[in-house]
Amino acid sequence: MLHSALINVMVKAARNAGRSLKRDLGEIEHLQVSLKGPANFVTKADQRAEELLYADLTKSRPGYGFIGEEGGTREGADKSHTWIVDPLDGTTNFLHGIPQFAISIGLQRDGVIIAGVIYNPANDELYIAERGKGAFLNDQRLRVAGRRKLDECVIGCGLPHIGRGDHEQSRRELTAIQQKVAGLRRFGAASLDLAFIAAGRLDGYWERNLQPWDIAAGQIMIREAGGVISGIEGDDDPLKTGHVICGNEFVHKELVKILKPL
Ligand code: IPD
Ligand code: CA
Ligand code: CA
Repeated sequence: MLHSALINVMVKAARNAGRSLKRDLGEIEHLQVSLKGPANFVTKADQRAEELLYADLTKSRPGYGFIGEEGGTREGADKSHTWIVDPLDGTTNFLHGIPQFAISIGLQRDGVIIAGVIYNPANDELYIAERGKGAFLNDQRLRVAGRRKLDECVIGCGLPHIGRGDHEQSRRELTAIQQKVAGLRRFGAASLDLAFIAAGRLDGYWERNLQPWDIAAGQIMIREAGGVISGIEGDDDPLKTGHVICGNEFVHKELVKILKPL
């Protein structure tokens, strides 16, 4: 399938960094048995992937700014374009050899996300989206799920880690949603949770306290697949607040109704 030059640049960078992560995943399986575990190794794998992405993306688009989880913000001469990158989303999964992690690349132009690529090198699933041109998984066009009964829906969520977020609030939210849906899932890589919404695998998803690099690529993926994504208020920008609610129009509205007052 033919994609734009921009998408080709993003896919090439994602696949290149993906090869590096996949090699490192093999190494982790050995380190798993050691007492110290693979934590330091994973930090290096993460940084290595970000440097590969930075090198590839800036070589193809010199001057674009770059915001990466590991290296922070690197300004470019072109002030209207910024890459927003998570080189390894789902670090805890990766650390434990669980093949649910991804590279997430979003491109922002004048404050608007115009393209996104999410790539899981473990199963070679590649999600792409470009503004006005649709969303695709390995070249198959994506469409959000159509369910309109919450009790038939499978809903994804995040859970705050130890020492982070509001655990009480998280429990209130889980209890409220659990009573109304067919199933709850916590997969552990926010970018892929969003991609799963675009692919119709999950009907809805919410999570608080995310970062722009968790959301940027997934946001355009969902919108291009006909879904709705906002903050907890229902009409706010998740990239600004870090809180996310998404699904088809109906599920999104229902989730906002339940979660907003909590
Ligand atoms: C994390 C994952 C996880 C989400 C966390 C994120 P990281 O990103 O996306 O699913 O619950 O809030 O920080 O640290 O693995 O890049
Ligand atoms: Ca992340
Ligand atoms: Ca990360």
